[in-house]
Amino acid sequence: MIFYFSGTGNSLTTAKRLAEQLNDQVMAMNTALKFKDEFTNKRIGFVFPVYFYDVPKVVEKFIEKLELASGYYFYAIATCGGEPGNALHSVRELFFKKGLELSYAKAITLPDNTAPLLNSHYDLTTLKPLQNTIEQIASDILLNTENTAETRYKYKAKLLNITTRKFAERELSKKQADENLCIQCHICEKICPAKNIRLIDGKVNIGNSCDECLACVHWCPQAAIRFNKRSISIKQQYHHPDIVLQDMINS
Ligand SMILES: Cc1cc2nc3c(=O)[nH]c(=O)nc-3n(C[C@H](O)[C@H](O)[C@H](O)COP(=O)(O)O)c2cc1C
Ligand code: SF4
Ligand code: SF4
Repeated sequence: MIFYFSGTGNSLTTAKRLAEQLNDQVMAMNTALKFKDEFTNKRIGFVFPVYFYDVPKVVEKFIEKLELASGYYFYAIATCGGEPGNALHSVRELFFKKGLELSYAKAITLPDNTAPLLNSHYDLTTLKPLQNTIEQIASDILLNTENTAETRYKYKAKLLNITTRKFAERELSKKQADENLCIQCHICEKICPAKNIRLIDGKVNIGNSCDECLACVHWCPQAAIRFNKRSISIKQQYHHPDIVLQDMINS
């Protein structure tokens, strides 16, 4: 089983391609806690984005809550814009607290979905090597390779985590839909993994339990969702080219 969390499809396509190589299945973390079954496959993977040089809070909570037994080969794959920070270290620690061992951990660089917020550009050249990287990772996993070199703790990343989170909390917590652009299509409501968006009397209401995934921002057909101080245009929206809206909504 491969559990994933994804806002703009980088982690979803990574999980799906890995599943194809490993003859395994994928399941979204926000539906997986309800899933009670024996894991028939002795390998369990976690694929997720890096947020603020660390693991997203929502993924942290998922791993904490998930009932896992020993005797499995656990692996973690973090997708990021090139700065994984302590994300893999934190996941290893979470396993350690459960009395379990993470066997394998790798970060994969893909386009950074925060690029327009940081006034930078998407590096689309990172899309090309993905399939080769996944094939390499899959062959490692099939051999039950032990490799956690990328879980090393980085002091600088901890500092960056605190400072970037502070900046982003101001921006991310004040998202609003521009009423002049919104066509009340309900996509943001359907796509939000935290069920944090509701359309009430034709008005988009964004609550306070945001998982910071940016799905609402990138998938809105009108680019109507804006931050505290800035908005992004349709041209600046990003999602992995293999992933379509239905993949996200059905997950
Ligand atoms: C709130 C937030 C914080 C992020 N912080 C980082 C970061 O610290 N380092 C990094 O390399 N990428 C960062 N990113 C970029 C994502 O990790 C990257 O684009 C990821 O592949 C997105 O995965 P997804 O498409 O599955 O949502 C951040 C993205 C978001 C939304
Ligand atoms: S996805 Fe965009 S256009 Fe559709 S309801 Fe939400 S804010 Fe409005
Ligand atoms: S409100 Fe937007 S950014 Fe927050 S969890 Fe929902 S879709 Fe993601």
